[in-house]
Order: sequence, then C-alpha cells, then structure tokens
Amino acid sequence: MFNELCCEDKTYRNLVGGKWMDSKTNKFIEIHSPIDGSLVGKVPSMSREEVDEVIKNSKEAQKTWRDVPVNKRAEILYKAADILDERAEEIGAVMALEIAKDIKSAVSEVTRTADYIRFTADAAKAMEGEAIPGDSFPGFKRSKISYVNRVPLGVVLAISPFNYPVNLSASKVAPAVVGGNSVLLKPPTQGSISALFLAQVFKAAGLPDGVLNTVTGKGSEIGDYIVKHTDIDFINFTGSTSVGYHISEITAMKPQLLELGGKDAAIVLEDADLEHAADNIVSGAFSYSGQRCTAVKRILVVDSVADKLVELLKDRIVKLKSGDPREEGTVIVPLIDNKAADFVMELVEDALSKGAKRVIGEKRKDNFVEAMLFDNVTLDMRIAWEEPFGPILPVIRIKNIDEAIDIANRSEYGLQSSVFTKDIDKAFYIADKLEVGTVQVNNKTERGPDHFPFLGVKSSGMGTQGIRYSIEAMTRPKAVVLNLNK
Ligand code: NAP
Ligand code: G3P
Repeated sequence: MFNELCCEDKTYRNLVGGKWMDSKTNKFIEIHSPIDGSLVGKVPSMSREEVDEVIKNSKEAQKTWRDVPVNKRAEILYKAADILDERAEEIGAVMALEIAKDIKSAVSEVTRTADYIRFTADAAKAMEGEAIPGDSFPGFKRSKISYVNRVPLGVVLAISPFNYPVNLSASKVAPAVVGGNSVLLKPPTQGSISALFLAQVFKAAGLPDGVLNTVTGKGSEIGDYIVKHTDIDFINFTGSTSVGYHISEITAMKPQLLELGGKDAAIVLEDADLEHAADNIVSGAFSYSGQRCTAVKRILVVDSVADKLVELLKDRIVKLKSGDPREEGTVIVPLIDNKAADFVMELVEDALSKGAKRVIGEKRKDNFVEAMLFDNVTLDMRIAWEEPFGPILPVIRIKNIDEAIDIANRSEYGLQSSVFTKDIDKAFYIADKLEVGTVQVNNKTERGPDHFPFLGVKSSGMGTQGIRYSIEAMTRPKAVVLNLNK
C-alpha cells in the first residue's frame, strides 16, 4: 500500500486516472519537517502540460461517475471512512512530521475526517428533490408540474490549506464526489504528502479511476493556471484571504466557495464565568500554536474584570507544554516555517513599540515561538487587526457591550466570535449585531461539529461549508417541467 504512492527515495507520486503517476518533468519539491528540517519526502512540481492531462482525465471520468446511483457513491465513502479509521495512527504520524501538528490533534484530524465522510454519505442519501405544481401561481394550472432534483457541477477543484491537509481536503472531496462531481485536489505543498495518503484511501475504498485526481506543485507557480483552466467547473478554496482575493479576481464568473482568514474575538462581559472563559480562550487561542482559522485571535474584555481574566489566562498559558509535536500533550509546536514566525514577531515588536504590556512569553528560536499574551493592546497596534496565525494573543480592554460590538465589527474579517456572559439576553443582543458567520455563546470559536454551517463573511470568505451545505454548494437544481394535457 505504502509503496504505491511513494518509493525508496521518498519520491511521491500523484494519483491520476487511478494510477500513481511519476513526474514527467523530473521537477520535485522537497518537503522538510518544521520540527527538525528532516526530509519528509519529495513531491512532483507538476507542469502545465501535466495539469492539462490530469484535468482532461477528471472531466472524462465525471461523465460516467455522474450516473452512478448515490447509494453506490455512499458505499465507497463508508469504506473510505473505515480505512481512514484503520490508518489513523499511521497518517497522523505523517501529518505530525509534515506540518508539526501535535500527534493527538493529528490523529484526531484523521478520525474526525472519517466521521465527516460517513455523515456526508448519510446526508447525500437523505437529500431528495421536489415536485412543484404550477397552479399555486396565478394563471397556471396543476397540469404544469416542475420536477426538481440536484445534479453535479462537473469538475471541482479542491484547494486546501496546510493546517488541515487531510480534513480540509476531504471536506471538499467527499461532498463533491457524493454529489456526482469529479475532483482535482491541489493540496498545500507543506501537507501534500498527508493529502496524498488521503487520496490513497479513497482509491483503496474503490473510488473509480479519475474521480479523484491530485496535482502537487506550488500554488504560487501553478495555481493561477489551474484555477483559470476552462475545464474546472467549481473552485472550493480554503486558505488565506490574500490568496482567496487573488483567485476571486482572476476567475470572474467561475462558481466558487472561499473559506479564508479570521480574527475571531472573544468578548468577555463582567458577569462571565471567568474560569470557564479562560479555559476556552486558552484552548481556542493556542491549540496547534494558534494555526487555526477559528483560533481566538483577540480578547475584548470589560475593564472591570480584565485584571482577573489576565491572571487566569497567565496561569493557564504557563502550563502549556511546548516542544516536539510527536510527544503526547504538546500544544505549542514549531510554526509551519520561519516566514510565519517572522510575521508573528513583526506584530509583537509593533505592539511593544506602541506600549502593549507583555504578560507572558517572549522567546522565539527559528520557527518556534513561545505562547505570548499582551495586555493593554490599543487599536493603533497591528496585533489588534492582523491575523498572526501563531501563538500570540492581544487583550483589548473595553468599557461596555456597544464598544465591544463596534471594535469586533471594525475588523476586515468575519468568521466567528465568542461571547462569555451568564445573561442570555445580552448574548443574543451581541450575537445579532456581530458581522460574522457564527457566534459561540460561552464557548471558544471552532468549526465543529462538522454538520453545522461554517462560513465567513467580509474578508473571511464567500459561501457556506458544513456537510449538507457543501453538497448543496457543489450541486445545482435541475428542473424538468411536465406540461400535461388535462
Ligand atoms: P495559503 O497560503 O493561502 O494556501 C492555501 C492553499 O492555496 C495552498 O494549497 C496553496 O498552495 C494554495 N495557493 C497558493 N497560491 C495559490 C494560487 N495563486 N492559486 C491557487 N492556489 C494557491 O494558506 P495556508 O498558509 O495554507 O493556510 C493558512 C491560511 O488559511 C490562514 O489565513 C487561515 O486563516 C486560512 N484558513 C482558513 C480556514 C477556513 O475554514 N476559513 C481554514 C484553514 C485555514 P501552496 O501550499 O503550494 O502555497
Ligand atoms: O482552520 C481550520 C478550520 O477548519 C478550523 O477548524 O475545528 O479547528 O475550529 P477547527
């Protein structure tokens, strides 16, 4: 099994038309572990000609796949989920090495993906069409009836980010294929080996040749060519806001779903359970070193309880285990690369130079950054507005609810927010006013459970993920109108 997609010198292959295809250009990208720089493997840097060949294969395969009954498609997904569960430890270990995700989170990403795939199969079987009689509209008779069901869009381009290379690939692939589409998966370069293992699982589960094909290569080199390709019918992208904007600009009129960056605020009111809030904020801000789109990335706390909250946060942060993600219990792990750490430290220096108070954490070595908390953060500081994608957390003190809402909404992002309060009326008042996709009441910001709608507004995205929503996004209604005689 392992040898299919790789060989002795750790050179990986892409899945094309049901076969593991060697690079035709002999151009490769070396993937090194963020943990220790060791070589994880080499993946092909595919050329435009290779991309053309792969997309042609995807387009051809979809013509047959679209006619496979949904119960047969579902059977393959159930099998893929079972294989993922069986290989969770193995694939989790690859992921821990490739993206420095702590081993517990890496393995749970794989098992969560298995659950996601099963639920997708269930949801697809439950999705029915409708029959709409004409006479409910003035001037028409009952003899005119519209039969509506959902049909696939064609070839879906799935582009996933480094921080969830298995889950955020499968959360595109599974709903797309169960909807009758074929998928071209362009995984993150740092994460592509983990994603190739996912592709292997779908192949082993019996997904017909060409229904899932992979294309590895740097997005900055081959990305524009792929997204603009005439035979790509839908783009399902998860990644940074800057790349999302870029894709959207160069692909006018191409249907797409964009899940982008975030700057999720945790709003803490004076009546909040501060212990509970501190637990949730620390977990939400620092798991996987804050490299989650839904990480808590700023705290807006009423001044009267700010000192207490900062103390409680500090007590928790100091206990977070840092180090090698392959060791059980590690939370603060090496960031994905030095460039990411440089950006995080830029925000830190800017905040300190403008008067932020460092509460805890200061060390940075190469791509490792300690968990850091800053108090008295003001709105002239970059850390108040920019997405660090790293383990640094700003505390902004506010006077009242309306100031919290104002500051929260001034962000360019609108993914999620948390509100910590015992007053349900205040919670709903704030939730109603926040310009975000989701408001968590008395909980950290997070995407799961995965059947919930998950969406960003403003610079956080366009369209809605979440199992049923994803199937709907990658299919469309098809109406057949019967005009009977009587
Ligand atoms: P990224 O740099 O935007 O890359 C995301 C994906 O896009 C990668 O596969 C990348 O390929 C590819 N790509 C880059 N340039 C491209 C282009 N011109 N055309 C087509 N594809 C291109 O993001 P990341 O660093 O992997 O992930 C972190 C970001 O994603 C953060 O901003 C985070 O907030 C966001 N994110 C959002 C969600 C959400 O659900 N809202 C979830 C996870 C992450 P390469 O890897 O080869 O560059
Ligand atoms: O950043 C990835 C996004 O999908 C967040 O998922 O479950 O960590 O909130 P989660």
